[in-house]
Amino acid sequence: MTYSRITGTGGCLPERVLTNAELERMVDTSDEWIRTRTGIRERRIAAPDETTCDLAERAARQALDAAGVAPSELDLIVVATTTPDKVFPSTACLLQARLGVGGCPAFDIQAVCTGFLYGMTVVDQFIRSGTVRRALLVGAETLSRILDWTDRATCVLFGDGAGAVVLEASGEPGVLSTHIHADGAYEHLLAVDGGISQGYERVAGGNAYIRMQGNEVFRVAVNTLGSIVDETLEANGVTRDAIDWLVPHQANVRIISATAKKLKLPMDRVVVTVDVHGNTSAASVPLALDTAVRDGRVQRGQRLLLEAFGAGFTWGAAYLVY
Ligand code: COA
Repeated sequence: MTYSRITGTGGCLPERVLTNAELERMVDTSDEWIRTRTGIRERRIAAPDETTCDLAERAARQALDAAGVAPSELDLIVVATTTPDKVFPSTACLLQARLGVGGCPAFDIQAVCTGFLYGMTVVDQFIRSGTVRRALLVGAETLSRILDWTDRATCVLFGDGAGAVVLEASGEPGVLSTHIHADGAYEHLLAVDGGISQGYERVAGGNAYIRMQGNEVFRVAVNTLGSIVDETLEANGVTRDAIDWLVPHQANVRIISATAKKLKLPMDRVVVTVDVHGNTSAASVPLALDTAVRDGRVQRGQRLLLEAFGAGFTWGAAYLVY
């Protein structure tokens, strides 16, 4: 039996820290409101000339170093992003060129905040089928570029960053199962209005920014994440005792706590980075994983439950042995 195993992780955050105190000077909000409603204290913002691919490259090189894999050994490069550098080529192709390796397939996945789980599902299929032995999977975003900095309901929530993993074929257990879903009926609750085909002027008056009905999204997210963790445990025939770490999407600490409560997991078994990263969309799960690997919390042989929820709506989970 062939499994996909994570053999290296990496992360990259832009240098610029944007605190709640600074946001207080930009919109009608308060540090107290942001902290109590979301758990966020600060987030990182990409420099004006810093792109998604810049962040992706730094995270990718770290993950490759940690895995001891040379870029030339990669059989596949997948980048999950909603904020690509260009309409085309894909950010995965731009990254491939930066790594100096042509030839292997490289493509982007767009599933917003669930992008990394979608990416892991796709990579896992390639590895299990024997088509690919070594893959680089990156979640990278510059969400600050699609934020309306006058909308207090959204601009306080998001941040920029990138996280990466190297996945390799192994006879030892790694990814045990992945589960992904979508329901396209929820566009009205969370979307960026406008785009290449619809245009920006006609639809959004030239302003294509994240628009969200936060409290509605919150309700669906909590319920949906509750069901997907059940689905994942059931598919593996295990109970919540078989989880060493929950590595959730970092959108709101109250959503994370609700999932932990449902799993009856104490918060010291949950990786939380939303306080310092904000919601980095497709980068959030791999960034949280990399943080917990590097600070020594996540150890080899431990069982992890990864989950995410995002616009679409899309949602997903993975159960794996690290
Ligand atoms: N500062 C101060 N007040 C704010 C604010 C801000 N940044 N943003 C909104 N408010 C106000 C609202 O205007 C509203 O005021 P009103 O009662 O006078 O109308 C009040 O706070 C409550 O708003 P509500 O949206 O009901 O708050 P909430 O408790 O649901 O928290 C979110 C808002 C956005 C933090 C929360 O709903 C959330 O996290 N939703 C999910 C977001 C998410 O995960 N999105 C991405 C999916 S990947």
